[in-house]
Amino acid sequence: MNILGIETSCDETSGAVLCDGNVSSNVVSSQLCHTSFGGVVPELASREHERLIVSIIDTAITEANITKNELDVIAATAGPGLIGAVMVGLCFAQGLAYALGVPFVPVNHIEAHIFSPFIHEGSGHNAPEGAYVSLTVSGGHTLLSTVAPDLSYKVIGRTLDDAAGEAFDKTGKMLGLPYPAGPVIDKLAQKGDPTFHLFPRALTSQSQSSKSWHGNFDFSFSGLKTSVLTWLQKQSPEFIERHQADIAASIQAAIVGVLVEKSIAAARSRNVMAVSIAGGVSANSALRKAMQEACDKEGMALHLPAVTYSTDNAAMIATLAWLKLSRGMQAERNYNVAPYASFAAGTKKAGLK
Ligand SMILES: Nc1ncnc2c1ncn2[C@@H]1O[C@H](COP(=O)(O)OP(=O)(O)OP(=O)(O)O)[C@@H](O)[C@H]1O
Ligand SMILES: [Mg+2]
Repeated sequence: MNILGIETSCDETSGAVLCDGNVSSNVVSSQLCHTSFGGVVPELASREHERLIVSIIDTAITEANITKNELDVIAATAGPGLIGAVMVGLCFAQGLAYALGVPFVPVNHIEAHIFSPFIHEGSGHNAPEGAYVSLTVSGGHTLLSTVAPDLSYKVIGRTLDDAAGEAFDKTGKMLGLPYPAGPVIDKLAQKGDPTFHLFPRALTSQSQSSKSWHGNFDFSFSGLKTSVLTWLQKQSPEFIERHQADIAASIQAAIVGVLVEKSIAAARSRNVMAVSIAGGVSANSALRKAMQEACDKEGMALHLPAVTYSTDNAAMIATLAWLKLSRGMQAERNYNVAPYASFAAGTKKAGLK
């Protein structure tokens, strides 16, 4: 079965072809037009998707060594995301499915991140076999979920304010780093001292209200942003410039510390022996290292998507469509965009229902 996946929920235009569950191509174009604005400008994102989508999809099909007529299913992100951006990919996908007379599968972008450790490249993969706790950390979301072997999942914690990716991007902006600052902080922090300054770790054993954190798998990063801002305001520009790497490493240590502590506590509390990290922030080298060390200490397995599949990509969209279809879920022909597709409490099957 050849599945074409399409992803346009934010500032990546991506197309991928999955042949019998294996990635045959994954083409990603990251929009550079937002850099000078310090964040994604929704209207520019939609226009850029429109400009690129035909050539990205053509390239994905060509790189997979097939033709359009050999596609069996088209899948696309239906939400959550920027409404205009999602509409470009979704309308294109439904139009193409209609023209080719093949089924269409709408995919929830965050569910696709959750199941990204299942992306298979042909030479073996890292898919969890039993239940696991999934930490999904991206630009807009920070979620802890338990995932059962039948691919049903239950959200057990989420951020009460900002996402971890936003905490990286906004604190990086305060340090004068370009958008998106997450990867830049990651690189800079490798030369810095993570113990240079102790920034707050809200809702953890190290927070002031540490007595109430047990069994609470929610996150909060807005206090970290305020703390970084007020601390930086007290320092001279020369001091900040001289210690930029140390400050970056200290911010990263605060974010990573929270993510690791909560994920391990969640796995322990649910008697689950495996953890996965997905979403853009799962590309962070310090997070990967710290989570690996924590899992090794607990005797838990760690499942990670390849760094290429951490940030937005269409291979994860096609993979979730494949997982759904191979478990007997039905494809549909028409689907409306769901910019606020939610993750309400309660066990869900991987799907937009
Ligand atoms: N190496 C890294 N270290 C830290 N953060 C990173 C790294 N690489 C990417 N990020 C962060 O990941 C985020 C982008 O991830 P992703 O593309 O999954 O988010 P999104 O699609 O915009 O949001 P969502 O998935 O919630 O809709 C940005 O905040 C970026 O700074
Ligand atoms: Mg994403």
